[in-house]
Order: sequence, then C-alpha cells, then structure tokens
Amino acid sequence: MDPVTQPRRAMVVTIDGPAGSGKTTVSKLLARRLGYRYLDTGALYRAVAVAVQQSDANPDDDTALAALCGRIHLDLQETADGARVLLDGKDITGALRAPAISLLASTISARPVVRTFLLETQRTLGAQKSLVAEGRDMGTVVFPHAEAKFYLDADPRIRARRRFEELQAAGSGPSLTVVEQEMVQRDRNDTTRSVSPLKPAADAIRIDASDLTAEQVVGRMLERILPLA
Ligand code: DC
Repeated sequence: MDPVTQPRRAMVVTIDGPAGSGKTTVSKLLARRLGYRYLDTGALYRAVAVAVQQSDANPDDDTALAALCGRIHLDLQETADGARVLLDGKDITGALRAPAISLLASTISARPVVRTFLLETQRTLGAQKSLVAEGRDMGTVVFPHAEAKFYLDADPRIRARRRFEELQAAGSGPSLTVVEQEMVQRDRNDTTRSVSPLKPAADAIRIDASDLTAEQVVGRMLERILPLA
C-alpha cells in the first residue's frame, strides 16, 4: 500500500496501552499507512523469554539473567511475511506466542536487568528509520522525545472478549471468565511493577477504543501525526 506521506526525517510514534486494547492491529495499520517501520517491543521481551527457556536459566535470578542478556543477540528482520525475530541469528518467531512464553515474558519483563538490556536494543533498532513503536513504556521511558505519543485503552470487558476471540480463533479454549481473570492479573502486574510500569506519558494523547474500529483509531492518530510529518 502506498504510504500516506513520505517522512522528511526520522519520526517516532509511540503506542502504549494494556493487553487487548488493539495496539498491535492499530500499530501495524498505522505503520503501513505512514510507510514507517513497526517495532513490536513485546516480541523482544518474548524473545528474551525464549532464551531463558532454552538455557534453563532461573527467571528470578538476576545474576543468571544478566549473564544471559550479556551473551544473546536479538535482531528484527522485515520480510514479505512480516517481521521475524532472530535470536543469535536463528528465527524464533514461531515460538513467541506459546502460552508458556507469554507467562515467562510477563515475569522477566518485571526484572530491571532485562529492561535495561532491552532499552539499548530498542533504541538501536529505533534509531534506524521512522517508526511506530508499540509496547508498555514507549512514551514514558524508551522514546521520551517521540514526536507523537498515544495511549490506547478500552473497557476491560471488551479487551477480555477480544483476547478470548483471538484465542478461540487460534484454537485454544480458556473460558471468557478465565481470560478476564488473567487479564485483570496481567493489568495489575504491568501497572504496579516498580520499573517502567504501564502508564500514559504526561504528553500522550489518550484514545478510548472501546467503541471504535481499528480504522477509526488510526484515523484519529493520523489527524495528529500528518501535520508533524
Ligand atoms: O505486548 P505483548 O503481550 O507481546 O508483551 C509481552 C510481555 O512483555 C507482556 O507481559 C508485557 C511485556 N512488555 C513490557 O513490559 N514492556 C514493553 N515495552 C512491551 C512488552
């Protein structure tokens, strides 16, 4: 698809928000419309989780995590099938969404040593060209000087239903009640952890996506971004 605009300089757009708010769909769509790179930072936390799992490191042991972070190399590759995640040169994209990895990613994302390691990785990847960066702390910590910051939220019941439908479509079947309970737990973990908790940046534009389609959310974002691009 043709980009809506050609960037004159490297622009960073950040999209933060809780699980199930529609961040991924919106971020990918927005990046395509702008012709920007899409940076999925959750995938990087998941990639570290894969490395932890493969090496049998104890996810509660900061010394082991620091040693692991010191020896692994992460990279993202744009392909016709979308972004691929490389761990030490090996494509691990297929392993990232496994339920055990989601859980492990959530655990290790609370460890300062992992966040510090990924801070550098994210900024290096982000320095390369204009991008839409999706995560939990994009506007607050990783790209505090981003040109445009958004915080996407939605009613928790709607977020849980969306996640439930995604899981059903993918063939796994926890009940809606279980999905809701897990979401409440994950929201609590993300918003209360001591390092980089999920919260809107002071200068972020908040969008409640409860009653909006992804196209409508992207439309609102473009209204803010296009005058800056
Ligand atoms: O967005 P996701 O579900 O793929 O993220 C995986 C985990 O990583 C999730 O538990 C939250 C965490 N995460 C984070 O702490 N900071 C980010 N910038 C992105 C993700």
